[in-house]
Formats: sequence, structure tokens, C-alpha cells
Amino acid sequence: MTRHFLDIDDLTTDELLAVIDRSEDSSPPRVLEGKGMALIFEKPSARTRNSMEMAVVQLGGHPVTVRPDEIGMGTREKVEDLARMFAGYHAAIGARVFDHDKLERMAAVSPVPLVNMLSDVAHPLQALADLLTVRQVFGEFAGRTLAYVGDGNNVCRSLSLAAGMAGMDVRIGCPEHYLPSTGDQATIWSSGVKPVLTTDPLEAVQGADVVYTDAWFSMGQEEEAAERRPYFHPFQVNTELMAGAAPDAIFLHCLPAHRNEEVTDDVIDGPQSRVWQQAENRMHAARGLISWLLEQ
Ligand code: CP
Ligand code: NVA
Repeated sequence: MTRHFLDIDDLTTDELLAVIDRSEDSSPPRVLEGKGMALIFEKPSARTRNSMEMAVVQLGGHPVTVRPDEIGMGTREKVEDLARMFAGYHAAIGARVFDHDKLERMAAVSPVPLVNMLSDVAHPLQALADLLTVRQVFGEFAGRTLAYVGDGNNVCRSLSLAAGMAGMDVRIGCPEHYLPSTGDQATIWSSGVKPVLTTDPLEAVQGADVVYTDAWFSMGQEEEAAERRPYFHPFQVNTELMAGAAPDAIFLHCLPAHRNEEVTDDVIDGPQSRVWQQAENRMHAARGLISWLLEQ
């Protein structure tokens, strides 16, 4: 059966850890030799496009990046028809979409693996790179605490699933109206992950090994920025908030960062920051995931 990757809970815990192991394989299998992967982007991307294209090349394949206006995604052609068509040329398809439902519809008909490259609901490729970074720094997941502070968004959902399934304790600190939606909370809990939810940023980071944040407004929410800022300001990751975490805590951010909004310059550029290692890991994690999917 074709395996798709729309969020972390499409994998079992053993599979998730196998993908992380593969991400560090020094001689990756050439599973895409003579084959292609279509990469469709409805939104801007720096890390995801570059890491996915390079991962495909490292697996012997050829990436074809496509913009939605080139193909009329859902306007010139139904997304199901696009998935069927791309599967005729490519061994796998990646898509970054506004509406997660588009991914569900493509996955329902695609005979080749479909990879979520970010939707309004989830960002699972990012969470794989995040786990890889945590393991490189701490060597293990058990007994470690990850604190996510900020917007209970797509990154928060996939990261919570990944960290919890890998065995970390998870705390999520958000302004009251920006906690993960009840649907996201149900998904996280039904995967066996039991995060602590709080509206107190200091409680979230207390003694944590990893402090993680993301933008206060996601792509497509730019018009809400001014309305959101006052609620999120207490959740800014600055030296004072970092001081509440463990002394050897690391700082992670999926990037792009809005410097001196959700994170201050001195934290993102400081000794606890691992964001560049994390960004590079997007490529290694993508390679591990694609090679694993193609060998199922
Ligand atoms: N972190 C991330 O997905 O970055 P891009 O939006 O640049 O791909
Ligand atoms: N939550 C952000 C992540 C960007 C990588 C967004 O969806 O825009």
C-alpha cells in the first residue's frame, strides 16, 4: 500500500525513529535513480524547497518545483487530477498548500507517496528535522522536556506529536485564544501524547531542555499581525524566558524568524541557539523520509 506523509501520526513510533536513523545514513540509497519528485508550492519557501530539492538529488533523482499559478491548482484542474497526472512522471509528490483538505484529496487518489511540505494544519517535515536536532544535541529523547511557546499552530501540532511519540515530555504555552484547536488537541492526545497546556510562558519553559517558538502569525495570517502582537508579547523568547529553562537548554525555531518579535537577537544569535543546525537538518530529515517512504 502506498504510504503518504501528511502528519507525524501517519508513522508509528518505530517508523518515526527509523526515519530519524535514516536521516543520518552516510551513504543514502539511490532510490530515486532516474526518477523524479514533483514539489508543488502554494506559499513561499526557502528551507523546504531547497532541502527537498537537495534531498531528491542526494537520492539520485530529479526534483521538479512547480508553482500553483503554473498549473492552476484547483482552478484549471482538480487537485485529484493533478495528483494522478504527476504520479505518471514522478516517484513521489510533495505539496505545500493553504488548505490541508487538498492534501487529503490528493492522497486519496495518488498511487505514489504524497508528502506534506506544510499546510494550515501540519508541518511534519519540520518536526522530523527538529527531532534529529534534539537527538544530535542530547543523544536521546527520554527524560527530556520540550517547551513550545507562542502560537498553537501547524508547527506546534506536528512538533508536539513528534516529540511526544519519541518519548519527550511536551509543554505548550500559548495565549488563551491561541492554544492548539480542540481538533489538534484531540489528534495529539489520540496519538498517546499528553502535553501540558498552559497560558503561562514561564510555567511552560520551567527547567525545559528545548525552548521552541515560531512566528506569531503564519503565512496567510499577515493581516492579523497587529491584532495578535499584544497577546503574544509575553511569550517572546528572550534571555529572561531562557533563564527559566535548564542551564544547558537549547533554542529552536523553524524559521523564518521575525527577529525581536517572537525571539530576540541575543537568543537566536546566542550560544544556546541551534537554529542553523536545525535548518540544515531539514535536508537530512527530508532525505531520510523520502528514502523510507519509497522502500515501503
Ligand atoms: N521552516 C520552513 O518550512 O521554512 P520555509 O517556509 O522557508 O520552507
Ligand atoms: N507557522 C508558519 C511556519 C513557517 C515555516 C507558517 O505556517 O507560516
